[in-house]
Amino acid sequence: MSPEPTTLPADWWREAVFYQVYIRSFADGNGDGVGDLAGLRGRLTYLRDLGVDALWITPFYPSPMADHGYDVADPRDVEPVFGDLAEFDALLAEAHALGIRVTIDLVPNHSSHDHEWFQAALAAGPGSPERARYLFRDGRGPDGSEPPNNWPSVFGGPAWTRVPDGQWYLHIFAPEQPDLNFADPEVVADLEETMRFWLDRGVDGFRIDVAHGMAKPEGLPDMVPMEDTGLLDDHGPGDHRFDQDGVHVVHRRIRSVLEEYPGRMAVGEVWVSDDERLAQYLRPDELQLAFNFKLLTAEWTPTALRDAIVHSLAAVEGTPAPACWVLSNHDRPRHVTRYGGGELGTRRARAAALLQLALPGAAYLYNGDELGMPDVDLPDEALQDPIWFRSGGTERGRDACRIPVPWSGSEPPYGFSSRADTWLPMPEGWADLTAEAQAARPASMQSLYRAALAFRASSPAFGGEELTWLPAPDGCLAFRRPGGLVCLLNLSGTAVPLPEGTVLLASTDVEGGELPSDAAAWLVA
Ligand code: GLC
Repeated sequence: MSPEPTTLPADWWREAVFYQVYIRSFADGNGDGVGDLAGLRGRLTYLRDLGVDALWITPFYPSPMADHGYDVADPRDVEPVFGDLAEFDALLAEAHALGIRVTIDLVPNHSSHDHEWFQAALAAGPGSPERARYLFRDGRGPDGSEPPNNWPSVFGGPAWTRVPDGQWYLHIFAPEQPDLNFADPEVVADLEETMRFWLDRGVDGFRIDVAHGMAKPEGLPDMVPMEDTGLLDDHGPGDHRFDQDGVHVVHRRIRSVLEEYPGRMAVGEVWVSDDERLAQYLRPDELQLAFNFKLLTAEWTPTALRDAIVHSLAAVEGTPAPACWVLSNHDRPRHVTRYGGGELGTRRARAAALLQLALPGAAYLYNGDELGMPDVDLPDEALQDPIWFRSGGTERGRDACRIPVPWSGSEPPYGFSSRADTWLPMPEGWADLTAEAQAARPASMQSLYRAALAFRASSPAFGGEELTWLPAPDGCLAFRRPGGLVCLLNLSGTAVPLPEGTVLLASTDVEGGELPSDAAAWLVA
């Protein structure tokens, strides 16, 4: 068993493997078809045995669920669908006793429209201090009936909604997610209060939602128009909604609160693809980690993957931060599906797992990565993502990657819940995909992850944060870590000879000293 978190070093997160628990879909403890804290508590030993170091739990705060919890009505309490504060405290204590750190989502950029502040802002009227906590503006045009600027919402449609007295409020996401005004000191103070509330309870850190949001430019000028807002793509400097210089002031405040609690950390969801701009979020007095989404967006080609790695490492060079690798999350198609789906996608996902876990720095797994879960095509009537509704049914949104995790058995809901009609329907045919079925198969995805995480935690070959590229056959990538680990990834379309050394682990059979295509191997010389 891993030691108690308190005995681990203060920078435990540098090489940690985090496991993202999308709370609605991980495990349902109370039989209502929605995952919850009790369900997660019941699966902690599974996570310990898998070998993860820490959890990131997605929002479980009171919420009307317009964006499934990313619309927070009270950031210092627990939504009854997910449990209560006592349940959270018990979960935290049990996780710590198993040696697992717990980090939680912090959603500073916006609140829910149900938050008491927003309700007070609506009631108080134009020019009031209550409205100053959000971004209310008069409209354009002779009668103010045009939005104050041309910003689109990430979820489709304009980023402004008009209220009955004629003013408009800004919401970069859904209308149920009004943006907070970080120029108002009360907003910043409230964020600090939320952080202390959870840090005092013992959480080990935060994942900061839309960490490149928050600050808005003076005067809210029009942005360079863009056709499709997509989801949090980086649109560059013409997009005034994100990555404004003022955001760094907020990150310094966040860091200063964290500094009061030794060993706690924050990772930012920073959709900024320019290496130098990303690096600014990782200055010594800002975030400890920023997700690097380049692997998550890279095509399955040697050039794209190498480029993703080179840029991710370049972004952190010169900052105190290590790189932070992500293959999948609750906002993007799962990598099994991105890489072609079916047997091919699974084969590539096995190789990608060894690539991700060989790279120096922290790694985030998304629940179900270790089972090789694919996306699921849902019928229109099952879709729930606000993107589906806001796009008028032209974009299907993110439900496909949020299907509940299959735990056991041969029929839906596969042990996820005691109730068959889970919040998103689970498909037939997943008997072999369940955690229970995979635990019994040495060649399963889960067994590969367990073995990989065990080596990563125990082998000196993983020492050192540098990466040296090695010569490799065409279509292959090979690199070495200072501790001696060599990772070879073959995308050449044909088998290639393995380099000298002992194979620690491979994503497929490597008999005959060859590594087949769409496969990876770990070796030590
Ligand atoms: C982040 C979350 C996403 C959410 C959005 C708005 O991108 O990952 O799920 O919809 O922020 O809070």
